[in-house]
Amino acid sequence: ATVTFSEDNSRVRAELPTGESVEVLLHGATVISWKDAAGDEKLWLSDAAKLDGSKAVRGGIPLVFPVFGTAPDHEQTKTLPQHGFARTSRWEFLGKSTSEDSFSLSSASVKLDFGLSSAAAGLDPLARERWPYAFNLIYSVTLTRDSLSTGLVVTNDGEKPFDCQVLFHTYLRVKDINEVAIAGLASTPYVDKVSPAASAPHDDPLAIAAETDRVYTPASASAAVTVSESGEPKFRITRDNLSDVVVWNPWTDKAAGMADFEPKDGFRQMLCIEPGSVSGWQVLEQGDAFEGAQTITLA
Ligand code: BG6
Repeated sequence: ATVTFSEDNSRVRAELPTGESVEVLLHGATVISWKDAAGDEKLWLSDAAKLDGSKAVRGGIPLVFPVFGTAPDHEQTKTLPQHGFARTSRWEFLGKSTSEDSFSLSSASVKLDFGLSSAAAGLDPLARERWPYAFNLIYSVTLTRDSLSTGLVVTNDGEKPFDCQVLFHTYLRVKDINEVAIAGLASTPYVDKVSPAASAPHDDPLAIAAETDRVYTPASASAAVTVSESGEPKFRITRDNLSDVVVWNPWTDKAAGMADFEPKDGFRQMLCIEPGSVSGWQVLEQGDAFEGAQTITLA
């Protein structure tokens, strides 16, 4: 048994000898599926998600770069669309690397690498028009038996310095949002985008029972966020060099307002936990690089 692998002009798929799999769309380098050995899907993907490159994918793991949300007061990115252009560009598949131990099937892993640069043919034309910097992005997606990691390296290849934000907009799949508890954000300062006045730190665990849109900045950059369902730990999310964690669920009205969000009550089967560097800006001078990663471990 070996890692199996398939590729066409729109997506790349890899499967471990033990059955776990990951699928990445070249459009946005969006991870659209992550399954365990039993075939159970770990990510939520809208039934109405556009996978043809016509817009950003609603679900999976869209990549946010170089701006989180919109930044009307930030000169360099103020004309960019929400969440930037990485998720609306066509990436190049750079190749795979596998690590396999013939004596132990359970230690196999596969890494898929994707690239996007300012010179790439697949770059969203809006980017070239509105963000005139020379950059290179390498995105790596690593699957092991019990985890999925995504990591982005941003390099400034030009003379002009630029500012950027990075975020992995992970849509986790849950069975019933009413049974979900999030731990690891106790006493953590956050900005509440739904009701800015109400952002007092809280205890663990956090339950989701209404529209939720918060940017947390934990004191410890390495502390894990754990998502449990019906009392059972389900996902454990750790960060590498990413200071922030966004927690998002659109709930009834926002879900109703998104044409590509289906089924309309699908918000009950999803929860976005989004590690990123978004509360400030990474400033990259010529030749500088920034690297950030998340690992989601099945608990
Ligand atoms: C979240 C933001 O990360 O993404 C929300 O905090 C936003 O404010 C959500 O609504 C979805 O964004 P989009 O552009 O994919 O609809």
